[in-house]
Amino acid sequence: MGKKVTIIGAGSVGSTIAYTMAVNGIATEVVMIDINESKSLGEALDIRQGVSFCPPISIYAGSYKDAQDSDIVILTSGVARKPGQSRLELAQVNVNITKSIAPEIVKYAPNAVYIIVSNPVDILTYIFNKVSGLPEKQIIGSGTILDTARLRARLAEYYSINQQNVHAYVFGEHGDTSFVPWSIGTISNIAIDRYSECLTDKEAVNPQLVHDEVESYIRKSGGKIIERKGATFYAVAVSVCHICKCIFSGADTALTVSSMMHGEYGIDDVCLSTLSIVGQDGLAGKIVAPLTDEEVGLLHRSADSLRAVIDNLEI
Ligand code: LAC
Repeated sequence: MGKKVTIIGAGSVGSTIAYTMAVNGIATEVVMIDINESKSLGEALDIRQGVSFCPPISIYAGSYKDAQDSDIVILTSGVARKPGQSRLELAQVNVNITKSIAPEIVKYAPNAVYIIVSNPVDILTYIFNKVSGLPEKQIIGSGTILDTARLRARLAEYYSINQQNVHAYVFGEHGDTSFVPWSIGTISNIAIDRYSECLTDKEAVNPQLVHDEVESYIRKSGGKIIERKGATFYAVAVSVCHICKCIFSGADTALTVSSMMHGEYGIDDVCLSTLSIVGQDGLAGKIVAPLTDEEVGLLHRSADSLRAVIDNLEI
């Protein structure tokens, strides 16, 4: 069975996703669409000239009609953050772009699973839910999947342990109000805050110090990379490709992706990241993990921040 993916936006993120898919054999057909047709053609050609060393794939630049019957559509188009800019400051301009794309692509790929990647991703996931007319289960925002990857990498370094042993998550906005629900984080099935006490050959560490350092590291990661190289695209591309692999595998997988809330933790009508189950048809429900009162409060803070932006948008 073919695995067709359409990527809208042939900028750094979109083209790195396409390249990663080709090299890893994640898709058998990739359509690249960009308002700058020369760019999407150039990116597709550049990748295509290397695919003889990759698993079989057809990759080409096209227009919306070429997205016909896509299994997955990935939205990466929009204005990217500049150094010092917050993701939320991009909201209105990228909302307008998303609103212009939605009816055009849905016309040709009404049954695809949509992965929204452009920032502010939680706002754009919400908007896409509202304007696309598609069932919510077909709409996934990349959300904090990248933040969760950054968290696991940092904790693995901190505790000198393989990332495979680290199970921790970032919830809320993919942005400044994200937070780590430490109460559900474990290393080797041991609560993170108790882990270092259980080690025979290492000093115990102060959990609060870990919390503060790691959460600051996560929140600032994207901005620090943008200051140095102008944009981020490798880690987010690999993260989005992981979502695609979970969809194509058909094995329901728990991921921190952005989706519409319907009363979980007392939060409604906003998109943000908690633990969602992702399967072959898109979202397959949520895992409403038990959180402390403080963590629920932090989730509400995130929701309120996003809601404040939505309330000020021209939708
Ligand atoms: C980042 C972008 C994807 O955090 O928001 O790198």
